[in-house]
Order: sequence, then C-alpha cells, then structure tokens
Amino acid sequence: MRVIIRKTYDEISAEAAMLIRARMLRKKNFVLGLATGSSPLGLYRELIRLHRQEGLSFKNVITFNLDEYYGIGPGHPQSYRYFMNENLFNHIDIKKSATHVPDGLAKDFEKFCRGYENAIKKAGGIDLQVLGIGSDGHIGFNEPGSAFTSRTRLIALDEQTIADNARFFSKKEDVPRFAISMGVGTILEARELILIANGTKKADIIARTLEGPVTSLISATAIHFHPRVTVFLDEDAASKLQRVGYYRFAEESEKAIGKEIF
Ligand code: F6R
Repeated sequence: MRVIIRKTYDEISAEAAMLIRARMLRKKNFVLGLATGSSPLGLYRELIRLHRQEGLSFKNVITFNLDEYYGIGPGHPQSYRYFMNENLFNHIDIKKSATHVPDGLAKDFEKFCRGYENAIKKAGGIDLQVLGIGSDGHIGFNEPGSAFTSRTRLIALDEQTIADNARFFSKKEDVPRFAISMGVGTILEARELILIANGTKKADIIARTLEGPVTSLISATAIHFHPRVTVFLDEDAASKLQRVGYYRFAEESEKAIGKEIF
C-alpha cells in the first residue's frame, strides 16, 4: 500500500488527479469507479481543470458510482446521480450514457443489483476505484459488519449514518433509510484503488484503517487485501498515524527507484 501525505487537501486532490490521468492515458475505454461526498470534490475539480485547460478527454471513459440512496430519484438534489452531474459529468466530455449510478428508484432492487454487477463485468471490470471513508470506516455504503465478500446490494443505513447525513435534508425523517451500494467484494475486484481522506475528523479512522487490525467492523480495512492501493492524506487526516516517518521515507525511496511501489 502506498501512503501519500501532503500538507493540504488541494495538494492531495491534485496528486490523485495526476494518478488518474496517467492511468487514463494508458488505456482506451478506461473504467473509472467513482464516489460522492466531500472527499473527492477537490479531485473532481482538478479533473475538470485538466479537461478544460490541458485537453484531458473523457470521451472513451466509462464510470460506475459506488452507491446511491434508495427511494429518491436522479432529480433529487441529494441524490448521488445529481451530485455527479453537478460536480463532474456536466463539466467534462464524458458520454452520459457511459456513466452509471445505481438507480435509487429500482422497484426490483435485487434484479437491479445483479444487473449492475453484470454491467461492470461487461465493461471489462473497474480499472480504478476512487474511495472516501466514513468516520465509522464505511466505504461505499458498506456499514460496519458488511462481509468482505459482499456484492452490490440494498443495505439498511446505520442510524449514525442517517444522523450524519440529516444535515443535507430538510429533516431527519427525509433521509432515506436504505442505499444501493457496491459490496466490499465488488470494490476489491477493481484493479486499483485510491482512497482520499482529509481533515482531523478522519484522523482516528485512518489510523485504525491503516494501522489497526483488519476487521469487517471497519469495512475500509479490507483494502489490506488489495495489491494496488494508494491512500492520499492531508496532514490532518494523517495526524494519528504511528508510521508517518516510514510512509514519507518510502515515498522518497520510490522516487529514487523511479517506480510506484505498492
Ligand atoms: C459515497 C461514499 C461514502 C463516502 C464517505 C465519506 O459515495 O462512497 O463512503 O466516501 O461517507 O464521505 P465524505 O467524503 O463526505 O466525508
């Protein structure tokens, strides 16, 4: 696992964008897994800038989002489809038909989830999946206790998640109680993962995820089973790690050899 620590959120966002650009340029029909929330916003801003100012094209890119609230439609301002359109898709040259976000209104959700998994397979699998991390260690909407083998499914949200997200809705009762989310197993099948975390409120969970025991109670610890992960942290999010010195030293060593070492 590579751990990249920078002073500011803007710096990690720019580095994450550079990594994605490098991967995109290497492969036609690149399949990019995306997340919503505040953590990847800087990355999306930077990808938009690379598109506008440096001609980075998304014409042949296919995307799959991790999750969507269940019970609200794409026109709802809190839906993740709406978020993705507003914060990325409307500002780049991606074909809308190549962007996939789970359908929060799917009546037969089991059938929908099977179809989502099949669509990922049909696209050739996800080349790189972007992840944020919840303060309880969730990735996607995989609440604590989600099996590491879990697949795309309907999941009941934790009361804490509902309380955390209430700020985005007019009242707590309006927060959906369910979401459709890729499973931890689905996420682990992506060929590469990047995880972005910033701010002191993520410091505890980052320390537990990177340096604590692997447990399904912290879904993000599953990344230890993945051979190609880069974690981007600002100094606040890295502030509770024990081995900061090592991560920095390893990055220097990586530069010396001129290759990414996972
Ligand atoms: C959303 C998602 C979630 C978020 C997590 C962190 O698509 O996958 O796991 O990444 O809840 O959210 P922020 O970035 O808002 O702290």
